[in-house]
Amino acid sequence: MKLHVALLSLLALSADAFSPRPLVPKTVTNKDVSSKSDVWRPPMNMVAGGAEKAYGQEYYEGARIGPPPDLPSLLLHNRIVYIGMPLVPAVTELVIAELLYLNYESTSDPITMYINSSGTTTAGGQAVGFETEAFAIADVMKYVRPPVHTVALGQAFGAAAMLLSQGKRGKRFALPNATILLNQPRSQAQGQASDIAIKAREVANNRRTTCELIASACGKPVSTVMEDCSRVKYLQPEEAVEYGLIDEVIDNKKWAMSSKPPSFMSQL
Ligand SMILES: *[C@@H]1O[C@H](CO)[C@@H](O)[C@H](O)[C@H]1NC(C)=O
Ligand SMILES: *[C@@H]1O[C@H](CO)[C@@H](O)[C@H](O)[C@H]1NC(C)=O
Repeated sequence: MKLHVALLSLLALSADAFSPRPLVPKTVTNKDVSSKSDVWRPPMNMVAGGAEKAYGQEYYEGARIGPPPDLPSLLLHNRIVYIGMPLVPAVTELVIAELLYLNYESTSDPITMYINSSGTTTAGGQAVGFETEAFAIADVMKYVRPPVHTVALGQAFGAAAMLLSQGKRGKRFALPNATILLNQPRSQAQGQASDIAIKAREVANNRRTTCELIASACGKPVSTVMEDCSRVKYLQPEEAVEYGLIDEVIDNKKWAMSSKPPSFMSQL
């Protein structure tokens, strides 16, 4: 239900992006970008809270004047979704919108999702997001038609590790120095005892759902994953392969030899 509402508001937000007119040309050159023409515009609000600015809604003598494309837009153009922050609501909204947009652009070309995220908390354990946000992303990863490949770089903690595991089987990767942490560092809840009890129940439920998603992606019993999640369990990339969370550690040499990392990814 929550996802449904989120999707509806996203669709409203992005209704413009779904008009039949091709909004993003197949190749974006510097010329397109700097000519202030009507051709290029970011499909979504790439900057949280900056929708108007990002859409470039100002006009000067009939020509749209907007900011030059930002990095997320250029990545999006190459079917790359980058999660480089904790899973706060604004990040979830953007990631889901990007997935829906890429689904609309092509239902067959793979999407590559790069993950460097401490999940729903900061690296220090301060809660900043809700697990339900991560569940919404996981749902949409399955809902869209194109296969979603996942790549961990830096850190994939807790809910972010869960998302990593939700990639297409055989196409879940980690860079050699990525750190994967099954559970989420979490500071203590504060407030009235009754509130804490309610919160604790919700945390426990969400943890169970996270573990169920990881378990089914890894082909492991839920009880095993629950047990591993109940303590701090770091996985080196090789260990994550053994665990079944990912399929392969990316060989940097192979990567360096490829002139086009994104298409190299889709060939893997
Ligand atoms: C991953 O994210 C952390 C925290 O935001 C940041 O310090 C680190 O530089 C990032 N690593 C990569 C490889 O992007
Ligand atoms: C990163 O991984 C490579 C390959 O496994 C290893 O040789 C290197 O020492 C690692 N670097 C760090 C900073 O851990």
